Amino acid sequence: MTKVINVDWNRYARKYDMLMRFNPFYQQLQQEVLDRAKKWSISAGDRIADIGAGTGNYSTAIAAIFPQAQVIHVDRDEGMCSVTEVKKQERHLSNLEIWNVSVDELQIEPESLQGCLCIHSLYTFSQPEQLLKAIHSWLKPGGYGIFVDPGRMVKVREWQMAIGWQMVKKYGLRQTLHIMKEGREISHQNQQISKYQANGTYWTHTPEEFEYAIASAGFNITESRLCFRKISDMVVAVKA
Ligand SMILES: C[S@@+](CC[C@H](N)C(=O)[O-])C[C@H]1O[C@@H](n2cnc3c(N)ncnc32)[C@H](O)[C@@H]1O
Repeated sequence: MTKVINVDWNRYARKYDMLMRFNPFYQQLQQEVLDRAKKWSISAGDRIADIGAGTGNYSTAIAAIFPQAQVIHVDRDEGMCSVTEVKKQERHLSNLEIWNVSVDELQIEPESLQGCLCIHSLYTFSQPEQLLKAIHSWLKPGGYGIFVDPGRMVKVREWQMAIGWQMVKKYGLRQTLHIMKEGREISHQNQQISKYQANGTYWTHTPEEFEYAIASAGFNITESRLCFRKISDMVVAVKA
């Protein structure tokens, strides 16, 4: 079945980094992922891919952590990639390649990657299980994967309340209301995401189903946990 995607990632891109600035749960998740990636053993010339990499909050951080590696940022949205390009220039990340391409057209040499990240992107792809198998084939034996995916429905109101509460404590009510107004596009796109989760266009799963998909792709799972207010599943894995 061909899936029609109507979330406007390009509009989302213009406001996306408000998540990085103001959403404490997004910041915490980024830290949790980077803490795990920092344990990877990466040699000079190794290649690491971030797939569905958005505005590069992970790919740019990984490129900075591993200057000896070549990091490939993959995202099919032009707006997301142009925000990343600005960060790449500002942070002088000459080891970051930005590939503005869909996963459906992605060509990576078998056994050429030492690490791969998919953070909150698998659920949007038309064939996430197939992509997991492809990632497994692109990794070298011993290569690493970190996969995070929102398995459960995104409940926009609950998120607004949770983030709003944290922000009021930090910035006060007036400033919080101003920031929330600025970030309306984020809520709007998340409402769209939630609709596509509800009608089955986007992948939803239990933690067990997520683990199963990753194990079925051939990975050995080294850690599996809930994250991001328990709506997301994180699996850390290795190719044997
Ligand atoms: C929710 S964002 C996650 C971005 C980033 N990983 C993060 O956590 O900040 C999902 C990203 O997947 C990208 N995406 C959706 N479908 C795609 C596809 N078929 N190929 C490549 N990227 C895609 C979107 O453009 C968007 O940037």
